[in-house]
Amino acid sequence: MALCAEDRALVRALWRKLGSNVGVYTTEALERTFLAFPATKTYFSHLDLSPGSAQVRAHGQKVADALSLAVERLDDLPRALSALSHLHARQLRVDPASFQLLGHCLLVTLARHYPGDFSPALQASLDKFLSHVISALASEYQ
Ligand code: HEM
Repeated sequence: MALCAEDRALVRALWRKLGSNVGVYTTEALERTFLAFPATKTYFSHLDLSPGSAQVRAHGQKVADALSLAVERLDDLPRALSALSHLHARQLRVDPASFQLLGHCLLVTLARHYPGDFSPALQASLDKFLSHVISALASEYQ
C-alpha cells in the first residue's frame, strides 16, 4: 500500500523526534531480533553478539543510517536502497523473510520508547514505511 501524505508526515515527524538516537533504537531492535528469532544470529557469527556489544552497536548505526536515508527518500525507496538490496541478496545471501523480523522488532522497540506518540495512526504509517523498506530491500532477489 502506498504511503499517503499523512503517513509520510507521521514517519518524518517521528524520525525528527528520534534525532540522533535512531542508532540506539535500531541496536535495541537488532538485540531483540537475535533474542526472539535466534536463527537470525547465524548471519552474524563473525560478530560479538553478547549484550551491549560494541560491534552490534556499530552495526545498528549502519542499519539506522540506511533507515534514515529511506525516510529522506520516501519517493524513491527502491533506488535509494538498491545497492543494499544487492548486497543482502547476492553477497550476504540473507533470507528476505528475516527483514520482517527486524522490522517487527523495530516497531516494538519504538512503541516501548515512545508510548505517548504511538497512536494507531502512527503504528499504521510506520508499518507501511517498514513494508516499503522491506520490499525495496527484497527487490534484487528476483
Ligand atoms: C549489513 C541494512 C536487515 C544481515 C548491512 C548494512 C546495512 C544493512 C546498512 C551495512 C552494509 C555495508 O557495510 O555496506 C539493513 C536494513 C535491514 C537489514 C535497513 C532491514 C530493515 C538485515 C537482516 C539480516 C541482515 C534481517 C539478517 C538476519 C546483514 C549482514 C550484514 C548486513 C550479515 C553484514 C554485517 C557485517 O559483516 O558487517 N545491513 N539490513 N540485515 N546485514 Fe543488513
